Amino acid sequence: MTRAVCPGSFDPLTRGHLDIVARAARLFDEVVLAVGVNASKRRLFSDAERLEMAAEATADLPGVRVEGFSGLLTDFCTAVGAVAVVKGLRSAGDYEYELPMAQMNDHLSGLETVFVASRPAFTHVSSSLVKEVAGLGGDVEPFLTPAVHARLLARIAERRAEG
Ligand code: PNS
Repeated sequence: MTRAVCPGSFDPLTRGHLDIVARAARLFDEVVLAVGVNASKRRLFSDAERLEMAAEATADLPGVRVEGFSGLLTDFCTAVGAVAVVKGLRSAGDYEYELPMAQMNDHLSGLETVFVASRPAFTHVSSSLVKEVAGLGGDVEPFLTPAVHARLLARIAERRAEG
């Protein structure tokens, strides 16, 4: 039984994330989508909302389950018995961001990191860009599940109403 962890903030989860998780599930017996919960970081969606969205979006993916985590990723991976972390790479910029974390995680616990090349359809898709574009009225529907898209539009409307 091999288990991997796909960690991230998922604020919110995009179809790019889903593609990586689905492909990771074909490489490992079980994949834990680990939603980083960090009270000190301000996000558009709360910890509970990000967990709910991730659970809804992956409900039909066999071998995938969702958990929240805080603290060191290596400690979480040890606790769930994961042999590897899976990360998607969209660009050289992603690689430069991810490589030191992969090396630090190896230093900390010997945890392996497996990089999966992003599909071209998702190379330009990130949670931050999706939030920015949607906030300015642009169409991001193709990059999100219908449930996540609806929540994003609702949250943007709430924030606008708050002023
Ligand atoms: O979606 P993100 O924001 O790129 O996710 C980053 C995340 C949560 C995967 C990363 O910040 C992380 O692993 N945090 C856990 C704390 C930790 O282990 N930090 C040291 C990394 S070497």
